[in-house]
Amino acid sequence: MKDAPAIATHDLGAHVGQTVTLRGWLYNKRSSGKLHFIELRDGFGIVQCVMSKGDVGEEAFAAADKVTQESAVEITGEVKAHPKRAGVFEIATKSFRLLAPTAGEYPISPKEHGTDFLMDHRHLWLRSRRQHAIMRVRHTIIQAIRDFFDGRGFTLVDAPILTPNACEGTSTLFETDYHGEKAYLTQSGQLYMEAAAAAFGKAYCFGPTFRAEKSKTRRHLAEFWMVEPEVAFMDLEGDMDLAEDTLCFIVERVLERRRPELAVLERDVSKLEAVKKPFPRIHYDEAVAILNAARAEKRKAAAPGEPEILDFPWGDDFGGEDETVISSRYDRPVMVHRYPAEVKAFYMKRDPGNTRAALCVDVLAPEGYGEVIGGGQREDDLGVLERAIEHHKLPRAAFEWYLDLRRYGTFPHAGFGLGVERSVAWICGLPHVRETIPFARMLNRLSP
Ligand code: 4AD
Ligand code: MG
Repeated sequence: MKDAPAIATHDLGAHVGQTVTLRGWLYNKRSSGKLHFIELRDGFGIVQCVMSKGDVGEEAFAAADKVTQESAVEITGEVKAHPKRAGVFEIATKSFRLLAPTAGEYPISPKEHGTDFLMDHRHLWLRSRRQHAIMRVRHTIIQAIRDFFDGRGFTLVDAPILTPNACEGTSTLFETDYHGEKAYLTQSGQLYMEAAAAAFGKAYCFGPTFRAEKSKTRRHLAEFWMVEPEVAFMDLEGDMDLAEDTLCFIVERVLERRRPELAVLERDVSKLEAVKKPFPRIHYDEAVAILNAARAEKRKAAAPGEPEILDFPWGDDFGGEDETVISSRYDRPVMVHRYPAEVKAFYMKRDPGNTRAALCVDVLAPEGYGEVIGGGQREDDLGVLERAIEHHKLPRAAFEWYLDLRRYGTFPHAGFGLGVERSVAWICGLPHVRETIPFARMLNRLSP
């Protein structure tokens, strides 16, 4: 048969009444004896192809009867619009061709599989309807991020992946050998974006970042994607405005373009529709008060003999559960600002009104999805920064270039990092980040 021009399932609406050829894989099949109903998956969508012996001939009809799940197939037929459901089409099959059978039974059947099994077969699992929907939402989130920053005059400045310096503490570094020199996989492009902010005013980087997290949680990956904007002459308030606008833009875009995928994921979209400006902004101390009020309630309800419920220790960073308690009070992301400087990174600027606090912000997503953004204003005083590097026991020589930014025209500036996978988990309503990235890297997973 002559090769027909490629028609994809999402183009069917423009071809009603015409005969088209589709190539893809057999997603599902049922048969009534007289008719085969084949669901053909082509990467864009899934369409039902109806086939009768009279139309395709005895041989093709018998071949279709034996075809296994995920065999590559080609189907030619007439496009018909569903009589009742708008946007739904069907193919009245005229010819059927098996392009490539499967080597055996396809490992992922419609029955239930454990997550470990599915993660081991991630290269195949990506073909399934749910995973397909998640990846398409991810794609749209990434595109929205780029459109947002590009539309606001930011210059994309790529940060290196192999770096000589730590950015987010020394305990989560992946170390490599760089021609006999120690190098690390980047934890964050921020330090480079500070250089970029002085060169371009508004800059962002968007790439993979790495953390050798020893923790196995539903929020941590060893390799994740982060967008990091950095702006010259912007303070913490401006940073929070920017974070708020970024998240609103992303959520709006997904609601505009990915309703069918959100439906596949059974996402309660009313929760996303509530994500509107302004987001609540609360001080760290206020967040601690929320935690302690919740703990006091728990204490009252506790049965005698249960372990004592202590107050949240002021000065600590919040854990995942704490973040859930804080964010559950709001229907939209909450911005917690001015954490104690001691629990935050070396580069954070101190609050002039209270030097124990840093001018930083964490944005906690609603519904218990935790921190999706971390950022703040950077220390711009050379002497203060030099002492912070010393206090954090960081190798001074590796930071000389960074200190130059304070030596040559230092300037107030701020920025943040938005984690793509945590955002995808939240927007899709997924319990774990492992399904938000095509091929997850975690404590116990390096393959496929
Ligand atoms: O809060 P983090 O560590 O901030 C930074 O790296 C700053 N240097 C960013 C900046 O100001 N330019 O990370 C930022 C975000 C988190 O809020 C979270 O969304 C995500 O990155 N993130 C992770 N996502 C998945 N797995 C991990 N292990 C993550 N660690 C951070
Ligand atoms: Mg953080």
